[in-house]
Amino acid sequence: DPIDTLPPTFRWGVATSSYQIEGAVAEDGRTPSIWDTFCRVPGAVANGDHGDVACDHYHRMPEDVALIADLGLDTYRFSVAWPRVQPGGRGPANPAGLAFYDRLVDELLGRGVDPWVTLYHWDLPQELEDAGGWPNRDTAYRFADYAELVFAALGDRVRTWTTLNEPWCSAMLGYAYGDHAPGRRDLGDGIAAAHHLLLGHGLATRRLRAAAQSPIELGLTVNLSTADPATDSAADRDAARAADGLGNRLYLDPVLRGAYPQDVVADLAAEGVRIPVQDGDLEVIATPIDVLGVNYYFGQLHSGVDEQGRERDDDGRPVRRVVRRDLPRTAMDWEIVPESFTDLLVRLHRDYPGVPMVITENGAAFDDKPDAEGFVADDDRVDYLTEHLRAVARARQAGADLRGYFAWSLLDNFEWAYGYDKRFGIVRVDYETQRRTPKRSALWYRDTVRRVRGQR
Ligand code: FCB
Repeated sequence: DPIDTLPPTFRWGVATSSYQIEGAVAEDGRTPSIWDTFCRVPGAVANGDHGDVACDHYHRMPEDVALIADLGLDTYRFSVAWPRVQPGGRGPANPAGLAFYDRLVDELLGRGVDPWVTLYHWDLPQELEDAGGWPNRDTAYRFADYAELVFAALGDRVRTWTTLNEPWCSAMLGYAYGDHAPGRRDLGDGIAAAHHLLLGHGLATRRLRAAAQSPIELGLTVNLSTADPATDSAADRDAARAADGLGNRLYLDPVLRGAYPQDVVADLAAEGVRIPVQDGDLEVIATPIDVLGVNYYFGQLHSGVDEQGRERDDDGRPVRRVVRRDLPRTAMDWEIVPESFTDLLVRLHRDYPGVPMVITENGAAFDDKPDAEGFVADDDRVDYLTEHLRAVARARQAGADLRGYFAWSLLDNFEWAYGYDKRFGIVRVDYETQRRTPKRSALWYRDTVRRVRGQR
């Protein structure tokens, strides 16, 4: 099995994020985030679900850390809620909010689990949105201040820091497509948000590097997907290029090459959108990082031709269309394509050499059927994880510098606009009782990690 070629130094973990699991949204001085607000917009989130209680992790943290430790994992990737530790998004730290993460870090270290902090996993303080949100340049500077304040509290014990989780989602789902908080639908806002997120990443990276007293690892996590052309036609190849540009290269190139991709700049210009770059921004954004976090869930096939065979829509714009393949899918309706994961990682190694990578998220939602005891025999999830881990191992055998893998997610949780219906956990959460029950995938993960480490 290719999985057995992963080295003993490989990092094994699980990931979560603050708004998706914590609950306790009004406790110890936390103020609302854009997600608290968005969840109240009728029709924005399935079933009107919200994160008020979520997995009640805020009150059950030691139990959840014990789950991680009992699975034998070495790393826990979690995020810090900005409105908890700096209510309102500016000004001094809130000691009561910071105290939670302080306890979490100590609990993890006490159980032999390495804490991996994500500073921003989408819960922007509402006050900063009211001041313009990510399309407003000032938010990047607010983020750098916030990052420094968290680092001052946890930097003595936390070695690995991720600035942003999936800036594409924050920018495009949040500001261009309206599917995520704050729900705006304007391409210009989305692109301005993307640039200011990246600027915030670079500013924060510099501040943390300057503040560090001991060696730390800094990085950024991006969600990447493969964009293959449906056929070899020029139109389909161009559609794939454009999708790869807007989804992948718009983030990778400025951070790892110091420049925005020219073809994407041209595509945006055709839509009347300019990236609001100021002098010196790209140097800041390209500040060297130590690790690139890669989140992968699915691949996609693209076409530049519509069902009627036309290459231009009624407005004269090039057709951009995702083509459904006849492939197995998860409950999210995402195509299961582990081969694309290998392709993606090998390509990253080729096109952006020199930066170690960790898979900071990978996993799947399925329609879990718990038995009377709450146990889920999720063979579908075991298969998904097995095939994707094999894909990672194959990419590593092909030379990609891969250092670790974190499953999304430890717990079933609040899956954003899908609410609680979509379950990604390797541990089941019964939301009525908050009881946690490891699924078969959790036990499989524990046994796999043991085997690879040679701990049988
Ligand atoms: C990623 C997010 C994560 C989770 C998974 C399923 O895009 O980072 O919070 O929602 O998707």
